[in-house]
Amino acid sequence: MADCPEQRPQALNPPSSALLARLKDLLGENAWREPLESDLSEPRGKFHGQAALVLRPGSTREVMEIVALCARERVGLVPISGGTGLVGGQIMERGPKPLLLSLARMKTVRSVNAQDDAIIVEAGVILADIQAAAKEAGRLFPLSLAAEGSCLIGGNLATNAGGVQVLRYGNARDLCLGIEAVLPDGRLYDGLKVLRKDNTGYDLRNLLIGSEGTLGVITAAALKLFPRPRETETVFAAVPTPGAAVELLQHLRDCLGESLSAFELMSAQGMDFLAAHMTGFRAPLQAPSPWYLLLEASSAATFGLRKALEDALVSGFERELVSDAVIAESQAQRDFFWRLREEMPLVNRIIGAVMSSDVSVPISRIALFIDEAAALIAGIEPDLRINCYGHLGDGNLHYNIFPADGRKAASYGPLGPKLMTAVHDLVQVHDGSFSAEHGVGRLKVGDLQRYGDPGKLAAMASIKAALDPLGIMNPGAVLATAWQSEG
Ligand code: LAC
Ligand code: ZN
Repeated sequence: MADCPEQRPQALNPPSSALLARLKDLLGENAWREPLESDLSEPRGKFHGQAALVLRPGSTREVMEIVALCARERVGLVPISGGTGLVGGQIMERGPKPLLLSLARMKTVRSVNAQDDAIIVEAGVILADIQAAAKEAGRLFPLSLAAEGSCLIGGNLATNAGGVQVLRYGNARDLCLGIEAVLPDGRLYDGLKVLRKDNTGYDLRNLLIGSEGTLGVITAAALKLFPRPRETETVFAAVPTPGAAVELLQHLRDCLGESLSAFELMSAQGMDFLAAHMTGFRAPLQAPSPWYLLLEASSAATFGLRKALEDALVSGFERELVSDAVIAESQAQRDFFWRLREEMPLVNRIIGAVMSSDVSVPISRIALFIDEAAALIAGIEPDLRINCYGHLGDGNLHYNIFPADGRKAASYGPLGPKLMTAVHDLVQVHDGSFSAEHGVGRLKVGDLQRYGDPGKLAAMASIKAALDPLGIMNPGAVLATAWQSEG
């Protein structure tokens, strides 16, 4: 690649003892610590990091001072949030030892305003606590994902997290009105406005959202709130094929309008995994099916959602788009349906994947993609098991591949990367994305180089060089570095 967007990390320094002493002095006791094992590892154990110290600032002013000091000495800074990311964005394995910048102490809800339909929170607020603060004000903050009890909003925004309500409310980016961030030279960007309209030049907020800590540190955000639903209905359904599921999606949106908020696909293979490993598993439907859906609809206006949903399911049944369905009759049953979906990644982890992915394709291509991918995998290694599930309503699949029953992932040798390339190549053919909602991190730096549009890669390199010319912000994440190409 001619304009290879490589960062120039050669000149990064590990922190000197004088810098460490200065930072400790600046922050005071309890606001720094030696790295813990949990700071250096991530949920799937794919990466193991290294760090000189964990800094735990309590204010934006302290973040500014830390970043300015690191810029002066050209020391790498890795922002860490709830640590639930799955692509190694929070883990720097190689290169000069960085400092970890934890936002966890910055957990103030600065304001909630129902008229503005906005909440202003610091980066270290746990996602579930934002949902609770919104609820207390009679509003809804709809970002929702399995890790919501421990992930922090700063990380959600830095990675543009998705989750299970994107279909209706959008991803983290769509839910953000403004951010406050510290730029790589220690300067403040104060963009904490709660405006719905603000066409005043380059959109720095949306540049920083999804930049995975490589262009600055998000310290606070103004987020959108919504009316709370008064009616919510949750359905577990059996569908004959992914193609029928896609048609059902269209049918339900025609019947229910924007009230459809979640449309999650699961497979018979996934249900078998849950049956084997999930505590308290019960099959929600009597007859087995090759594919299942968990769907939810909700409405702030009381218009008879239940009846509309029942009618839509009956007409879907008549059109053979759905073969069976049960509507949750209680909160406990609704919670159980969601537990089936949310425990899928945990059960997958118990079994141990040969390859996991987070891809998206246009919804019109989903069915074709699933068929072609299955044929492709069978051609590479026929005894693998595929657990394809995910956010069908967003065109986002976790297309995950597992060892045959009785075998371990390790027994397939280096098959994982080969399967990953095969799946990602197919995604590329279908105009999809190799990372729909988890980000690039360090896991997919090579994929971005391979599949990224050259114009975009060149622009990204220019932006990185302009905002972070010293390459101190999350070195090696998103964009390639010298030590990665060596390693
Ligand atoms: C999920 C995570 C893995 O959808 O994104 O379960
Ligand atoms: Zn997901």
